[in-house]
Amino acid sequence: HPQKLWGGRFAESTSALVERFSESVSFDARLYRQDIRGSQAHARMLAKIGVLSDADARAIVEGLEGILADIEAGRFQWKRELEDVHMNIEAELTARIGDAGKRLHTGRSRNDQVATDMRLYVRDVIDALIPLIDRVAEALLDLAEREADTVMPGFTHLQIAQPVTFGHHMLAWREQILRDKSRLLDCRKRMNVLPLGAAALAGTVYPIDRHFVAEQLGFDGVTENSLDAVSDRDYAIEFCAAASLILVHLSRWSEELILWATPLFGFVDLPDRFCTGSSIMPQKKNPDVPELVRGKAGRVIGNLTALLVLMKGQPLAYNRDNQEDKPPLFDTVDTVTICLEVYAEMIPHIVVNRDNCRAAAARGFSTATDLADYLVKKGLPFRDAHHAVGSAVAYAAQKNCDLAALTLDELKRFSPLIEADVYTYITLEGSLAARNHYGATAPAQVRAAIARARKRT
Ligand code: ARG
Repeated sequence: HPQKLWGGRFAESTSALVERFSESVSFDARLYRQDIRGSQAHARMLAKIGVLSDADARAIVEGLEGILADIEAGRFQWKRELEDVHMNIEAELTARIGDAGKRLHTGRSRNDQVATDMRLYVRDVIDALIPLIDRVAEALLDLAEREADTVMPGFTHLQIAQPVTFGHHMLAWREQILRDKSRLLDCRKRMNVLPLGAAALAGTVYPIDRHFVAEQLGFDGVTENSLDAVSDRDYAIEFCAAASLILVHLSRWSEELILWATPLFGFVDLPDRFCTGSSIMPQKKNPDVPELVRGKAGRVIGNLTALLVLMKGQPLAYNRDNQEDKPPLFDTVDTVTICLEVYAEMIPHIVVNRDNCRAAAARGFSTATDLADYLVKKGLPFRDAHHAVGSAVAYAAQKNCDLAALTLDELKRFSPLIEADVYTYITLEGSLAARNHYGATAPAQVRAAIARARKRT
């Protein structure tokens, strides 16, 4: 067994069971890049203030560079008995460069080290997610443009409500994901301060230059309070909350796609390569991808809950509990990333069955409100118009036809105010075209919204 880096005061070595129980290198090894970047900045700072010689600092920076290369090439031996990513890398550095390696940890604790690594990591993750979200938003914009005139039923209570365009529906999805993007950027802004320098909890005796380190690592500033700096995991929670909302949105889209892809709706076909078959029923084409996204939303929401509960009982400052922040955070990162990737790939290949969408909109008396509004324009109070149209709907339902399929004589039975011009209002196209203002579903407005979006990006 290599000697523990903290072994000085111990009379016996750690139990093998405890090593297995408490290690984190099996999952925090993924922080190696951030850990190395942070250590290099710290070493440069120590040299700048004269605590390290320039030669030692150079040896550290170069030694870490070599370790980085070996890790990336899969040549690095991670050791469980060295507990975590930090001590694995530091021990290897010392093995390679000798005493200079032992000087690296001057004025630093693993508590502010891990806090720094984690902030760098979450920041890197956000920077990788933003272009992915942009791809999804762009795909939705293209699909909205393709289907700007496609009539489909809009739903409330999952009952047919009023006609909308498919394009309008896609732009609604896009609004959700754009809010998610701004939430991530918000989170990034708040978290982008350097905790290093807090040391274990109280700061350090060395005349450190935290701003110099912050600048090297791309932080906007430094944390204000050392106790807070080593114990704060708000940013991980905020990230997981933002990721949970992304998954909530993707899960809602999934639910709609799953419904729309059943022959009962028949609104869309998903590409074969995004679906799977049944081992017994030869006819099946199952929407497993959206189903899995819907399912994975549960995991990500669970991870957020795990982090909130992890933190709620902790006194200041660092507690080892914090090590448990990593599995839920990393799982959230992996899950949100692959779900966004899958949607970015799938959306451009969703085939919309325009005839089915249209037939569904025509079936549900979706223009009943338009008929009521027509009567209001002819002078009838809205409540009376609502009642008259309700009777007309009951009549058409009995005849098993749409409102627009009733003759003028039939319609007149429900109100003498109805005249031949009614048909321009109660067709699907008439209904859509009439909702012609900023943010509404008229094809012209959908096109205007798309044009605004394209100008913005
Ligand atoms: N692996 C630890 C973590 O993830 C690093 C910090 C350990 N600090 C300590 N005092 N034991 O939080």
